[in-house]
Amino acid sequence: MNKEYQIIDQKEKQMQYEYIEKVRMHVTLLEEKLNRKPTFCVTTFGCQMNVRDSEKLTGILKSVGYQETESEEADFVIYNTCTVRDNANQKVYGRLGALGTKKKKNKNMKIALCGCMMQEESVIDKIKNSYRFVDLIFGTHNIYKFAQLLNDMFESDRMVIDIWKETDRIVEELPVERKYKFKSGINILFGCDNFCSYCIVPYVRGRERSRQPEDILNEIRSLVMDGVIEVMLLGQNVNSYGKTLETPISFAELLREIEQIEGLERIRFMTSHPKDLSVELIQVMKNSTKICRHLHLPVQSGSNKILKAMNRKYTKEQYLELVSNIRQEIPDISITTDIIVGFPGENADDISETIDVIKKAQFENAFTYVYSKRTGTPAASMEEQVAESEVKIGFDRILEAVHTSTRQKAGHLSGLSLQVLVEEINEQDSTLLTGRLSNNTLVHFKGTKELIGTLVQVRLEECKGFYYFGKLEG
Ligand code: SAH
Ligand code: SF4
Ligand code: F3S
Repeated sequence: MNKEYQIIDQKEKQMQYEYIEKVRMHVTLLEEKLNRKPTFCVTTFGCQMNVRDSEKLTGILKSVGYQETESEEADFVIYNTCTVRDNANQKVYGRLGALGTKKKKNKNMKIALCGCMMQEESVIDKIKNSYRFVDLIFGTHNIYKFAQLLNDMFESDRMVIDIWKETDRIVEELPVERKYKFKSGINILFGCDNFCSYCIVPYVRGRERSRQPEDILNEIRSLVMDGVIEVMLLGQNVNSYGKTLETPISFAELLREIEQIEGLERIRFMTSHPKDLSVELIQVMKNSTKICRHLHLPVQSGSNKILKAMNRKYTKEQYLELVSNIRQEIPDISITTDIIVGFPGENADDISETIDVIKKAQFENAFTYVYSKRTGTPAASMEEQVAESEVKIGFDRILEAVHTSTRQKAGHLSGLSLQVLVEEINEQDSTLLTGRLSNNTLVHFKGTKELIGTLVQVRLEECKGFYYFGKLEG
């Protein structure tokens, strides 16, 4: 992004603040009419990017005078959608039907849809035809003008639709409302240029755009002043951060700078593409006292034939070597992965190759997904789509291998005393607290809520598969 854009974006930011004032007037009028504060509910589908975007939506909605509620019986309901797999879309349609019924009872209710699913033309057509009660639709590129769109919604009696195909804009410093006081996601780059052949993300999130390092550092500094001790740096492929900036900088360099921020205790990031994970990054992680001992490194498949067709740009051997180097340099790291089963052309031998990777890489955890055909992606028009019955057999084989591998790993931290960031009161048992180890494993232990948001020392006593029970020390 060059200077000219930065100036435009300052103007854009100012304009959005003016819209916030305008919408506040509409919300005040609504409050007078209802004789109570109008409420809003943001429902998020999909990944951490969407979670962060929803915090931006929440920030704006609170600034214009709405009050947050968990219930979808609210006066303003917005779905921030995901379209990575078809079941994500189906969930949205299902729940949208129920929202329509609620709207019949509350005439003042407004319904909005945004996020990745809205970047698809077929989705917009379907909503226009079958869900005409929706008031506002926008996409992933223009979320920064949410205040302006809300204003349009209040001033129009028709469905407001604003979808952009692309953008090169990054508008900084609009209101954001964090879910947790002590931790926060931070976008470092938007979009994706990798075009893995099965994936819709590059089409709905657009081209890769890195934020300026100073903007990222300033945002983290001000978050730390506001009580944040853990940050999660977000991007579809964080390892390619900074490559297209006017003054290029590597992801490893960015991490080194973030490490210097006083008061910041933990740094996480998501997601790493194996093809771009550098030796420099491994060294920075190794020498850091703040970067957490966790790497999510999606392998997708262990078969070279399938990896090639997926356009992943690494081989099984390269992946395994990378994992082995990382484990050698950082022995206490936990490595997790994503696997897709049923990609076009995948047969029983390919599944065996993936199982071989699972055995050798010894993942701490793996998320397995059934391949979902996404219209417009190269894989969707590939011949040899795999029959559902075949996919099921492959899926069960993979799941079995994952379970065996994670069972072997489970419990290896038992007896150790480790640092835990306390996140919340345990959902099942309110005498327990729940926190996270540096390697992302959950730990439950007795304690009181004052400890939430702090780092404490916990002795791990009993392993229950993916989590531990422990005892607070000191
Ligand atoms: N940018 C990240 C992944 C984002 S999507 C990366 O490249 O690692 C999260 C996961 O969803 C992917 O890792 C992949 O395993 C899965 N996924 C993406 N597209 C899919 C599809 N069409 N069908 C099934 N799973 C898919
Ligand atoms: Fe999708 Fe591949 Fe980009 Fe990840 S790296 S978002 S899987 S295209
Ligand atoms: Fe889904 Fe969009 Fe994330 S498609 S996985 S919400 S980038």
